[in-house]
Parts: sequence; structure tokens; C-alpha cells
Amino acid sequence: MFGFICSRTPVQIFGNRRVDQQRRFAHRQGRPQTSKTPLKGKQMPFGASGNRGGFGGRGGGGGRGAPRGGGRGGGRGGGVRGGGIQARGRGGGGRGAPRGGRGDRGGRGGRGGGRGGARGGAKAILEPHRHPGIFIAKGKDHLLVTKNLVPGESVYGEKRISIEGGVDDTKVEYRVWNPFRSKLAAGVLGGMDEIYIAPGKKVLYLGAASGTSVSHVADIVGPEGVVYAVEFSPRSGRDLINMAKKRTNVIPIVEDARLPNKYRMLISTVDVIFADVAQPDQARIVVHNAQYFLKDGGHVVISIKASCIDSTVAPSAVFVQEVHKLREGKFKPIAQITLEPYERDHAMVTAQYIRHN
Ligand SMILES: C[S@@+](CC[C@H](N)C(=O)[O-])C[C@H]1O[C@@H](n2cnc3c(N)ncnc32)[C@H](O)[C@@H]1O
Repeated sequence: MFGFICSRTPVQIFGNRRVDQQRRFAHRQGRPQTSKTPLKGKQMPFGASGNRGGFGGRGGGGGRGAPRGGGRGGGRGGGVRGGGIQARGRGGGGRGAPRGGRGDRGGRGGRGGGRGGARGGAKAILEPHRHPGIFIAKGKDHLLVTKNLVPGESVYGEKRISIEGGVDDTKVEYRVWNPFRSKLAAGVLGGMDEIYIAPGKKVLYLGAASGTSVSHVADIVGPEGVVYAVEFSPRSGRDLINMAKKRTNVIPIVEDARLPNKYRMLISTVDVIFADVAQPDQARIVVHNAQYFLKDGGHVVISIKASCIDSTVAPSAVFVQEVHKLREGKFKPIAQITLEPYERDHAMVTAQYIRHN
């Protein structure tokens, strides 16, 4: 077993807010936060480059070697066990399984969870996560879950669990959200203070792929919210469109995110842009889309894959560059974390759009 219990994601906060590592850590374990939780943290200026080694990020207990090897295995099962996230072998929502449809047919843990699927559904207890619309199902495993907008259906072979607590003692269904498959889930478990994606919000999602993470965002924003999901690959776009047939709060847009003018008539003003296009010009794409669609004071959550932007310099230097580009595009950076141990050399950055400054 490897436990993410040892891995502390380094967090940077722009400005003078205190970093509360311990509180985040408790949160990752699904423990409710209390005001008595001791504050123990390290202040780091946002945009500074030293964000990979601190708090056992890469070089420490949760360093590159250890979590990575076990990491993928853990991701496949999607399990978050008490005391940490644990490797679960193959199972519901495994990497690769859903996309090709294997998951749908019940192969490798698809339909019924199969080998290594999430356990403890019947006895699981649900706790709201710190981020509205996200939950932790605590049974034999601790699992990050979202409330299934279309009960009875998995989107990509991910495990579903029914938990008592609905109206008249009915069960409510949740879908397991795997941080090894979704950068946003990795950011949530990695301790992002805010993701700005919450029930009722309007979200523009750039880099939707086949819609696996988008479907969880759709669960989070719920029927009162909207997810405009932009993806330029026709093949992924087909899966995205199919997913959106049942999730009517998702508007699939198969277009190039570099050309927001082409889809401007489909989108109203949004509260949040989530970007995961993994392109060298991602910051420019975000700024361009913000000019069209993001409300003044709205937020961006951006996943930065360093090697996609510049593989010749250290990832930390790439993150600094990208934050600088956001600043130039009228964004005020708020927070930054690395996505270790779920993703190597990735950062997640949040910023606020100040249109008129
Ligand atoms: C890293 S994947 C996104 C994974 C997805 N966010 C998830 O969690 O499932 C990046 C996606 O961005 C898409 N993409 C890249 N450049 C794009 C662009 N200019 N416009 C629209 N989509 C783009 C790629 O086709 C790919 O599907």
C-alpha cells in the first residue's frame, strides 16, 4: 500500500494569505475541518518558482519515485481509502477502459465494478466535501464522488455507489471521480482552496476530450448550472456529444478553442473557465476566451502541463511564465498547486479576471 498520507502537495498562495497545509491534508482524508485544526503552513509568494520540492512534494515522502509507481495502479481503481488513497488494482473507471468502450461492456471493472471496483457502497457514509457539489463516500474505501445527474448510468465505466439519504429513505447515486484520470479531481484532492465550480455555476470547459471530467463538472453544477464543453478533436467530440445527450446541462462544442468567435453565439457569460487543452499557447487561449465569455470578477482554473509548453526549461519556470501571461491578460493570480502525485510536472493555477483595471 502506498498512502498519499505522506505526500504533501506544495501550495502557493499569491498575495499574503496563509497557506494551511494541515487543514488541506485533513480535507484530503475527508475529515471535516474544524477551527481547532492547527494551522501549520509555509507562506510562498504566488508565481515563485520553488514549488516542487517543498512539503515533500517531489523530493520528499511523496516524491517522484514512490507515488508514481503505485500511483497509476491506485488511479485505476479510483480508490481513496481511509488513511489515504490506496492502490486498488484494476477497477471501475480505469484509465483506458472507458474510452474504448470496454468499461461500458463491463470489462475491467466497468459495469459492475469488476475486479478491484469501489467497495462498500451499501455501507458507505457520505460527507460533503469542502467544495460544494463534491462528496466523499466513506466505506471500506474513501472515494471522491459526485452526485450522478443521470442515475443508473455510468459515463465511462466509472463505479457508481448508492447511498441512503434521499427523500423518503430512497438511495441517492454517486459516481466515483478518479484523480488519476481527471486533473480537476487531482486539484481537489491536492488541496485547491477554491475551484469556483459549484452548483448553479456556468462553466466554460476548454479541452473537454471525450467528456469524462466534464461529466463530473456537470454533476457538480447540477441542473441549474451549465457546462459549455469545447473540444476540437472530432473523435473525442463524438463521445462528448453522446455524453451530453443525457446530461442536458452540457453544451458540447466541437471547435478550436483558439477561435472563440466561431462559437460565441452558443455561449452566454460564464462564471468560470476551466482549461486543460495541454497546448503551448494555453494561456493565450484562456485570455482570448475570457475576453469573449468570462464575467468581470469571474475565475479561471487552469491545468498546466509543463512539457506541453516548454520542455527545455524546468517545470517551475514554465509555471512562472504562464502565471505571468495570465497577469498580462488581466487575471489576478490567486493560488497554485502542483498535481503530484497524480500528475507529474503539472500545476493547477486559479486566477480572477479583472476586466476593467
Ligand atoms: C489533456 S486533454 C483533456 C482531458 C480532459 N480535460 C479530461 O480531464 O478528461 C486535452 C484535450 O484538449 C483538446 N485540445 C487541444 N487543443 C485544443 C484546442 N485548440 N481547441 C479545443 N480542444 C483542444 C485535445 O484534443 C484533448 O482532448
